[in-house]
Amino acid sequence: MTSDTSLPPLSIETLHDARAGARIGCTLHYFDSVDSTNTVAHRLATDGAAEGTVVIADSQTKGRGRLGRSWVSPPRRNLYMSVILRPAIVAGAAPPLSLVAGVAVAETIRDWTPRAVLKWPNDVLIDRRKVSGVLTEMEADDGWVRFVIVGIGVNINSTADDFPAELRDTAVSLRDIVGAPVDRTAFAESLLSRLEQRYDQFLHGGFVIIRPVCERLSGLTGQHVQVDDGAHRYAGLVTGIAANGSLCLRDATGRDIEVLVGDVSIINTSEGPTER
Ligand code: BTN
Repeated sequence: MTSDTSLPPLSIETLHDARAGARIGCTLHYFDSVDSTNTVAHRLATDGAAEGTVVIADSQTKGRGRLGRSWVSPPRRNLYMSVILRPAIVAGAAPPLSLVAGVAVAETIRDWTPRAVLKWPNDVLIDRRKVSGVLTEMEADDGWVRFVIVGIGVNINSTADDFPAELRDTAVSLRDIVGAPVDRTAFAESLLSRLEQRYDQFLHGGFVIIRPVCERLSGLTGQHVQVDDGAHRYAGLVTGIAANGSLCLRDATGRDIEVLVGDVSIINTSEGPTER
């Protein structure tokens, strides 16, 4: 890892002032280093922290990704953030929240580059390389959501040598694309405000309101993919996103399939899966 002291620290005071009175981010907890902001947020939520409480850390020692993967979290460079949400919905209605968060992240990144696309359900890619991921974790009681932790990691100012060799071809930072350091405070401010806007729409109108934005931002429509939902593996051409947030595929036999949760690999038809 290069030691880049030229990068300005994230200004939590500026962020705090910007989010005063807001639903998401009016309570902010900032740490130099934690194991995982999702773990800290989970603890706070279990202890009763209010909806909209945000945990941000400058680095993570055990940053977690989906499917048991780890999230590379070096200090001073990036955004590692977890948001506590308490929507009054049944647990079965919660999966589209991942997409809601993914849309907010993709829209924010597009303020810096129009090349960012959403990879269902909630990764953001630039030129097929991953710049951001979202880890959503839910607790429910009697079938109702008690809280959801939306953990967002964005590679803002990482350089290639921050990533382990096996990720260098598939991960990218915003700084790599923009060609200059990106202000993490401005990024976080914009992201929290977008997340609040999209979350309000979800609460008041349901996912159907956000679905068209999701389809517009999606980098998967028209691509051949493989989707693993933990129990089955599906392959087909992506035809869109359904009203409940499922990914719509048409398989080789012409059958239409909807997958509600899963991990997508884009298939380069001559070579097999090319990315996760
Ligand atoms: C993924 O793409 O697999 C999801 C990555 C999510 C990473 C973020 S960083 C902030 C929050 N804390 C974590 O430990 N994970 C999420």
